Amino acid sequence: MNPLRKLHLKTFGCQMNVYDSQRIADVLAQSHGLEVTADPAEADVLLLNTCSIREKAQEKVFSELGAWWHDYKRHRPELVIGVGGCVASQEGERLRERAPYVDLVFGPQTIHRLPQLLNQAQGRRAAVDVSFPEIEKFDRLPLPRARGPAAFVSVMEGCSKYCSFCVVPYTRGEEFSRPLLDVLTEVAVHAEQGSREVTLLGQNVNAYLGATPRGGTADLAELIRQVAQIDAIARIRFTTSHPVEFTDRLSDTYAEVPKLAAHLHLPVQSGSDRILRAMKRGHTVAEYLAKIGRVRQARPGISLTTDIIVGFPGETEEDFAATLALVEAAGFDEAYSFVYSARPGTPAAALADDTPSEVKKERLGRLQTLVANRSQAFVERLVGSVQRVLVEGPAKRGQGRMQGRISHNRVVNFAADEQLAGQMVDVKINAVSVHTLRGELVASRHAA
Ligand code: SAH
Ligand code: F3S
Repeated sequence: MNPLRKLHLKTFGCQMNVYDSQRIADVLAQSHGLEVTADPAEADVLLLNTCSIREKAQEKVFSELGAWWHDYKRHRPELVIGVGGCVASQEGERLRERAPYVDLVFGPQTIHRLPQLLNQAQGRRAAVDVSFPEIEKFDRLPLPRARGPAAFVSVMEGCSKYCSFCVVPYTRGEEFSRPLLDVLTEVAVHAEQGSREVTLLGQNVNAYLGATPRGGTADLAELIRQVAQIDAIARIRFTTSHPVEFTDRLSDTYAEVPKLAAHLHLPVQSGSDRILRAMKRGHTVAEYLAKIGRVRQARPGISLTTDIIVGFPGETEEDFAATLALVEAAGFDEAYSFVYSARPGTPAAALADDTPSEVKKERLGRLQTLVANRSQAFVERLVGSVQRVLVEGPAKRGQGRMQGRISHNRVVNFAADEQLAGQMVDVKINAVSVHTLRGELVASRHAA
């Protein structure tokens, strides 16, 4: 067998996938000494971590794999190509029918088995494992390596909500939570390595219910309180939440834990009760508004963002108008909106859908214009204010500039020394353009 030296990892999809990719890099560094490279041409192992939430994301997978075959594997057959994530989970063996040059298929819950799967694939036997051995994944993974000032930690996996349009429960399995101490240990390891901010991750993160050492359980509100006890952690975020499990205890955490960032992403999907019911979201518009009302009371000035699906089967102009009205009533500062995409195997895929795609696109356009205006108004209100920023690293554009996020989760860039990376600083916001804030350093402090 040829020695493997370098790993190229490409990630599509959500933050859970970004987290999983980091753990993949950790596990293969430990088992095979693989070093990550950004250049696929010099890699011995090429892994694609995939997303199947919408059809477009899924199609991107096959075009990327085809390119890897054409550009690299065709010339170097010993190269290992692997596919992980939700497309792998959904397709399993079938993936190799469409892309026979793939050597390795693994699911979101089998990344800890990658070392053996990689050995098998190197022995020229295709290796496929997309099972759901649940908590085993975390028990078998090495502790994470330093990844900079802002760390991600997965606290629960999977989803048991079964919204009628969504593939996640099928691709990532049912919900299960990591024990409280495991999560706290992982956060502490990041803190020791210099992280100042942590984002607690889960597809349905507020369903977190982790076992405690005394045989009880801790919910997300309790977990946040405990993470806040770790001195070096100055800021805490969590994503993604579901409205039904958004408890009063969790809302109240915004009042009680100042380290909790002034931002909440709470997907609503639609502003029509009829459509919410068909989506099986389990709540009404009024219930949603009541929940965010409580959050705003606990943390005045908090920034709220959401996800919206346009053109769910049977959505009428009236339903859509209710969605536009909700965007105003809820006061969202940003919304990620998508045209509904029928996913094979989900209940909604069997519903009659007679809204023409031009109508759906036109609705999406109207929604996005409204959201863009709200987003612009939000950032304009920030001009002149001083915001706490965790300096994450060099700005994407502009020499001598650094970037970081304000508590409300917007990126700002400002002139600063590279040595400030990892510190909390105060930045005065002085200009905004479509998606960037520009500011200037007011003062830097070491402590939170
Ligand atoms: N756990 C999150 C959502 C994860 S998927 C929640 O509680 O809602 C991220 C977003 O993708 C969803 O919020 C939804 O807006 C969108 N999405 C999911 N399935 C979709 C589909 N079939 N078509 C279009 N958008 C979809
Ligand atoms: Fe999907 Fe609904 Fe879960 S959108 S991830 S099934 S909460």
